Amino acid sequence: MNWWRAFADQMELDTPLGPMTWYRLGGKARYLFRPDDVDGLSRLVRRARDAEVPLKVLGAGANVLIRDDGFDGVVVRLDREAFRSVERNGSRVRAGAGVDLMNLARRCSESGLSGMEGLAGIPASVGGALRMNAGGRFGEIGQVVHGATVLSPAGEVEQWSREQIGFGYRASKLGDRIVLTADFDLIPADPLETRRRFDECFAYKRATQPLSEKSAGCVFKNPPGHSAGALIDRAGLKGARCGAAQVSQRHANFIVADRGARASDVIRLIDLVRDRVLAEFDTELEVEIDIW
Ligand code: EPU
Repeated sequence: MNWWRAFADQMELDTPLGPMTWYRLGGKARYLFRPDDVDGLSRLVRRARDAEVPLKVLGAGANVLIRDDGFDGVVVRLDREAFRSVERNGSRVRAGAGVDLMNLARRCSESGLSGMEGLAGIPASVGGALRMNAGGRFGEIGQVVHGATVLSPAGEVEQWSREQIGFGYRASKLGDRIVLTADFDLIPADPLETRRRFDECFAYKRATQPLSEKSAGCVFKNPPGHSAGALIDRAGLKGARCGAAQVSQRHANFIVADRGARASDVIRLIDLVRDRVLAEFDTELEVEIDIW
């Protein structure tokens, strides 16, 4: 008997994952599951665990690279209504894991709730953004998180405080937990001012990053005290290629995929960049994107 028989109406088989990611590269998911509600997700998580089928959640697909041979397990997408609600209570905002972070940051900024302006233009789902503490030079999402409702690997709903989530630099302690909703504590402010700040942060991003090309944002974390982009640039690697993957001419910490690229091209280029920066500056670069 198929382990997933009870979920057949919400399950797709052998689905290409590339179109669900910003890179638009990589192979298929053996199973793709789009739950209608938390209960369905919880039952699926337990069933997959019992059947020893690996499970991953795909958010906005903005920070992942799917390998060419795909993922031999179940990929969960929280894109149905139950996971996309936004509620405001004073200056506290609760957003579902499937909510688009860019829209949320814009809406909060427009309505005079301060705290998310620095997240302007960061492509992510709320769940993915929490997991890796999305952010940049203007701030990180963890700074405004009050807490989150998560699903444990045993399928239990848990309430996690900000301290438990344990935000670090592009990191959290969420591990195998699946974010269901996140609570944000924002600060009432002049809407004109929050909107101006939002636009300013977005403009910086547009001016310095190759946003119209296919990429997964910054490939490497910034090593302590350094900018990965500046190191790669100084190593003379802008424009370096492997197959149809190229180190961006605009921002050296971006690897862009041209027409015909394969995930393996990007992975080879990541290795090449890491080796060259190590040889040149004796600095080890750590990959920031999630490679499946
Ligand atoms: N720089 C270069 N050459 C380059 C790129 C950058 O010399 O090719 C220099 C810049 O001139 C600047 C310094 O390096 O002096 C830092 O560059 P930038 O301001 O672009 O910031 P970053 O540290 O490279 C971080 C985040 C970005 C985020 C921006 C803006 C990391 C790894 N990156 O970039 O996040 O958008 O700040 O907030 O923390 C991402 O995580 O995917 C991402 C793009």
